[in-house]
Amino acid sequence: MNEERLLLIGASRGLGLALAEEYLQRGWHVTATVRAGARTKLHELLERRPGRLVIETVDINVGDQVTALAARLKGQTFDLLFVNAGVKNDDSETIADVSTEEFVRVMVTNALSPLRAIETLRDLVKANGTIGIMSSGQGSVTNNQNGGYEVYRASKAALNTLVRSFAARHADERRTLLLMAPGWVRTDMGGPQASLGIEESIPNLVNTIEARVGRVVSSIWTTAGGPFPGKSPSVDGDEVPVDEVDEMAAERHRCVGCQEETLAGSLGSR
Ligand SMILES: NC(=O)c1ccc[n+]([C@@H]2O[C@H](COP(=O)([O-])OP(=O)(O)OC[C@H]3O[C@@H](n4cnc5c(N)ncnc54)[C@H](OP(=O)(O)O)[C@@H]3O)[C@@H](O)[C@H]2O)c1
Repeated sequence: MNEERLLLIGASRGLGLALAEEYLQRGWHVTATVRAGARTKLHELLERRPGRLVIETVDINVGDQVTALAARLKGQTFDLLFVNAGVKNDDSETIADVSTEEFVRVMVTNALSPLRAIETLRDLVKANGTIGIMSSGQGSVTNNQNGGYEVYRASKAALNTLVRSFAARHADERRTLLLMAPGWVRTDMGGPQASLGIEESIPNLVNTIEARVGRVVSSIWTTAGGPFPGKSPSVDGDEVPVDEVDEMAAERHRCVGCQEETLAGSLGSR
């Protein structure tokens, strides 16, 4: 059987754990990571769903661990690499009072480390496979009308920009590259007041990824989850109906090699 295979970074709990479970339910083989040391909910999932789940360890902030993971997985190929790991700081902490150490922790974990992980692990992804990264609607510069969450927002905006740069630098590759925004979801990070349950966000997020897989054009997508029915708002800008995005993406694909920007928020053809 030709089993589809996912390499998922950061799956101990929350959205990462739910992604592992969702892909297992859809018949995929899942290699998912936790940070070393503790027993996690992913280990409980392995007990409930043995056979197609393998647990690996990596802290994405430790370069040697990412390199070692790539070495351990050498020879395997994945249809999808998804980097979910992320952190936030205290919600009320502004740029005026955050410590340099805390700013660096959030920036490194949310922006630098995901890109380093992708650079190190991307050769494990099939040439026509997909690389996904968990961003956030908070990372949109355009949509930042109300402020708040200043450090976290900045880290996801940096992530979005770095992924666009990655896409431009690897413009000759055919892998699909997707930045995803899951909506505001009730997890340890999202908190109990968040608008979406995990079960409302993750199946839609996976549907959105699957709808984009195999397309040459890479864009910034969100899930079409609860708050955005029928829409696929760009992480980096305007809310755009899915059909229009497809048309604009196709237009952009025709524009490979030209300088014109045809879709604000797109990553460009690859
Ligand atoms: N929940 C929301 O409303 C929301 C909205 C938009 C975007 N997001 C994004 O979605 C992703 C998952 O969020 P969540 O709500 O599920 O958060 P969460 O419950 O706090 O889980 C965060 C996950 O990231 C892992 N992680 C953190 N730092 C890591 C590191 N250095 N190396 C490896 N793994 C690390 C954690 O592992 P440990 O258990 O070892 O700490 C955990 O598995 C994040 O990127 C977040 O920014 C969430």
